[in-house]
Amino acid sequence: MNALLLGAVALPAAGMLGPFAASFVPRSSSGFGGPQPALDAQGTPVTASAWLADHKPGDRSLVQGLKGDPTYLVVGEMGLESYGVNSVCTHLGCVVPWNAAENKFMCPCHGSQYDAQGKKTRGPAPLSLALVHVGTDEDGGVALSPWRETDFRDGQEPWWA
Ligand code: FES
Repeated sequence: MNALLLGAVALPAAGMLGPFAASFVPRSSSGFGGPQPALDAQGTPVTASAWLADHKPGDRSLVQGLKGDPTYLVVGEMGLESYGVNSVCTHLGCVVPWNAAENKFMCPCHGSQYDAQGKKTRGPAPLSLALVHVGTDEDGGVALSPWRETDFRDGQEPWWA
């Protein structure tokens, strides 16, 4: 009788625990943690060639990035830089505009400032803007992926990872 009762409880429990346990396994590169296309304001994937035709060196303009966060693509002298800058202010979450005349990101909400790479230079923001990797896929589309490595701007571990 005990074995029958144990079987009646254990079988459904095992069925429920499998998916629960699987939820703790990191997703593969084809899932949430892998490269995702950068999208323009209409939700259309951005191609590097079209972007560079419209954006000159020094430009920082927004795309829809990972998790839908507005993210700056940075255009250098040789093309797109290999990093993008998440525009969400680390103080209270305003979108931080790029000020080309001042060569810095300046938050309109409470005055925080970040240098041209998104490193915090003035509070009240406590941290620099988050980074993402920028690359291209086999079709020339701009692909974004999470930045989990050391922050090249200050040598610290990334606070956002
Ligand atoms: Fe940017 Fe407060 S939200 S300074």
